[in-house]
Amino acid sequence: MEPVIISLGGSIVSGEPLNIEFLRKFCSVLSGYEGKYRFGIVVGGGRLARQYISSLRKLKVNDHVLDEIGIHATRMNALALATFLPDVNHRIPTSINEAAELMSIYPYVVMGGTEPGHTTDTVAALLAERIGSRILINATSVDGVYTDDPKKDSSAKKIPSLSYDEAISISLKNSIGAGPNVFMDLTSLNIAKRSGIVIYVMDGTDVSEYGSIIDRRKTGGTLISALRESA
Ligand code: UTP
Repeated sequence: MEPVIISLGGSIVSGEPLNIEFLRKFCSVLSGYEGKYRFGIVVGGGRLARQYISSLRKLKVNDHVLDEIGIHATRMNALALATFLPDVNHRIPTSINEAAELMSIYPYVVMGGTEPGHTTDTVAALLAERIGSRILINATSVDGVYTDDPKKDSSAKKIPSLSYDEAISISLKNSIGAGPNVFMDLTSLNIAKRSGIVIYVMDGTDVSEYGSIIDRRKTGGTLISALRESA
């Protein structure tokens, strides 16, 4: 069974406090692929992580501790997601190798972060690389990569396809001065580039998009691959 890795943005999973309806629909879409694909789903920390981290950062708590707290939030969201899936791991893996082993047992494996210093996008890229997945779906709260921040610049345009190098330069530009909110972190893009993993950046709240990508490898978002023309 071909593996598909999904980096599921925490803000999609945890709203006020949990987006139950989304979780139900998301898991029902994935259940439709049982027997055809196996899924590794890496869940972000969302509001839970952000609230804890921003409160404690004001008190000058060190970044390693803040990252550890963020990781706990991601694992809590992962465990919440697991309750909606059949035949899934019960314990959240704490390393890529552990997750890779679980992927040979379960059709669905959920996890959060691994160690301080990166985000769950990087965890998802590492897991994709480790198990040889050709596809990484980055389910985010925006519906693709834009020429500029669409909230600040109304003339910003969505980019249908990007090469790895173009995506890396946009991520680099956005990470300077704009805070951590980039569509994907640099490390994850570099890992995808070195292993030729095709990335689909999509609106994670639009459940029909997952099927479009898995079935037809088409996205209303942005495709990132070796060649921009391959979209
Ligand atoms: P996220 O992956 O959700 O971070 O992990 P993010 O990308 O900054 O969040 P969004 O996508 O914009 O909502 C939450 C936090 O947990 C820590 C980091 O501090 C991260 O910001 N973390 C997560 C790690 O330190 N290591 C990991 O492997 C994962």
